[in-house]
Amino acid sequence: MPSLFHQRQIAASLSPRSVKLMTCGSVDDGKSTLIGRLLFEANLITEDQLARLMDLSKRHGTNDDQIDFSLLLDGLSAEREQNITIDVAYRFFNTSRRSFRVADVPGHKEYTKNMVTGASTAEIAILLVDASQGLSEQTRRHSFIISLLGIKQIVLAINKIDLIAFSSDAVSKIVSEYKSMAEPLAFETIMPIPISARHGDNVIKNSENTPWYTGTPLLQYLEEIEVSSSEPSAGYVMPIQWVNRQNSDFRGFAGTIAAGSIEPGQKVISLPSNQTTTIRQIILGSEKLPSASKGEAVTVVLDDEIDLSRGDVLAASDADIDVSDQFEADLVWMDGEMGFAGRPYWMMLGSAKISAKITKIKYKYDLNTLAKLSDTKLQCNDIASITIKLDQAVPFLSYQTNRELGGFILVDRFNLRTVAAGMIKHSLHRASNIRQQHFDVSRASRETLSGQKGQVFWLTGLSGAGKSTIANEFEKALHKRGLNTYILDGDNIRTGLNGDLGFTDADRIENIRRVAEVAKLMVDAGLIVITAFISPFRPEREAARALFDEGDFSEIYIDTPIEIAEQRDSKGLYKKARSGGIPNFTGMFSSYEPPFAPEVHLTTSVLTIDQCVAKLLDYFEKSQ
Ligand code: ADX
Repeated sequence: MPSLFHQRQIAASLSPRSVKLMTCGSVDDGKSTLIGRLLFEANLITEDQLARLMDLSKRHGTNDDQIDFSLLLDGLSAEREQNITIDVAYRFFNTSRRSFRVADVPGHKEYTKNMVTGASTAEIAILLVDASQGLSEQTRRHSFIISLLGIKQIVLAINKIDLIAFSSDAVSKIVSEYKSMAEPLAFETIMPIPISARHGDNVIKNSENTPWYTGTPLLQYLEEIEVSSSEPSAGYVMPIQWVNRQNSDFRGFAGTIAAGSIEPGQKVISLPSNQTTTIRQIILGSEKLPSASKGEAVTVVLDDEIDLSRGDVLAASDADIDVSDQFEADLVWMDGEMGFAGRPYWMMLGSAKISAKITKIKYKYDLNTLAKLSDTKLQCNDIASITIKLDQAVPFLSYQTNRELGGFILVDRFNLRTVAAGMIKHSLHRASNIRQQHFDVSRASRETLSGQKGQVFWLTGLSGAGKSTIANEFEKALHKRGLNTYILDGDNIRTGLNGDLGFTDADRIENIRRVAEVAKLMVDAGLIVITAFISPFRPEREAARALFDEGDFSEIYIDTPIEIAEQRDSKGLYKKARSGGIPNFTGMFSSYEPPFAPEVHLTTSVLTIDQCVAKLLDYFEKSQ
């Protein structure tokens, strides 16, 4: 049995350099047919499959009585029925010269998400264009997405040339139109190849029908193309996945190398802690390796005891890696639930998991015209340029330099769904120029002086639920006891600090974000703060809670059914809303998400105001 290290060497010598391709184009451009044709021509189809394919072609095919290669691919029933490919499918094939992985990406307009999935790991994109139709909306859209995802090499496969009588002029026109369209996208190479996936012209062999085409056929081009890689110049970069402490004498750092290579004896630096040391050993299983490079998962042992944990990065000592907590990035929104600035998400970058908030949606792209549009929300399939702030600084590279340390995903904190994929453009320098100042008079000294503890009572509930009334009576009772208090109330704050905000989801999120920050300052000043805002969305209330130490934040649910709030209608707003005068009115046209586990739950349909206040005072006393 050869050792792991030898197996690695054997594998490396047997498989020629592999290439990751993706195909894209619109629905009828012929992607599936092209992949089927490549598999067939590369002799990767068994006799059985061929027989079945002929049978299917007779029944479902669109290629007269010849083989319809699009029918070869898996998962085809859905596609046949709907006439669209509905998910990314990866296929693998080898020729004597190279091995290939192809991501077949759907062309339907709504499937930006799948396109991003396919493109995020591909090196070369085969962009299909139907010669009889010319460039389409999708050609522009897909070209933009693949450039955003860092693909630098394009094969422009001008398909169905049989339908345009193999006209060299028509092909030249498409090529020149495409080149001018793609100019701002900065691809390194654009290789136009006129093909017929259905009949095989210029796929494997140069076609007699196109004597004017002097380039190589598609497969040969793919076998020979040199795949460019934009590695960071300084080489070795490895995010730490876990710290391996097998026993008290052994401490190794495990991770997958994201760029470059390493050898024992090489000087490395830990980030963000900035300590320098030397690689002592590189371990794979029980073998010690003489070197390791990009894509390999290894454990490294260092000469010195340095502080490294999951999410940190080990890199060549002269690596040009930035550390920051604020970025500008491109973001593809992938979730049905909309995305907003100010709402917290988990960001997964490298091996780090960090709390992050989009600070600004700078603009969204109109994918058809590439115009920049302003908006306050991100909908499924939107691509936007955003700024984002993290809870702590992390080591990173720009996505165009390194996909592993520049690409991230955002995850919903409640349901753990992946909601977005992002590509870091650069850090924001305002981040690195600001340092938290510390002052000698602390919260603790202020609290000692006043003899009270700062804390916040966060009242939430529908409009007309009784939040302001209960806040008022509760404050009076605390005031009577000689305590320093302050009420932050929705209607009042919206006449001043938040006078610029309305009632869209985005504005409500910003409203609560600002109020939570103000409450935090007041608690630091040693005050007892009572907030009275509808605060309709759970993520913002959770984000507010997360700003405070355990015990300093109490969520108070003023639970009044909408029918009762509407009956009371103390401000006449329900009536106005019913007659169409208030769009976005909470409970009717905008949602209210009740708390799951509030510290105090006050059901106002059962309790009087006095009873509510008594319950609050009771809770207050017990928590002191
Ligand atoms: S929140 O949703 O952003 O938390 P906030 O508590 O500040 O709302 O303001 C709610 C108050 O604004 C209500 O009590 C009501 O008086 C008024 N208001 C005006 N328009 C609306 C609306 N569309 N929905 C809810 N309240 C509204």
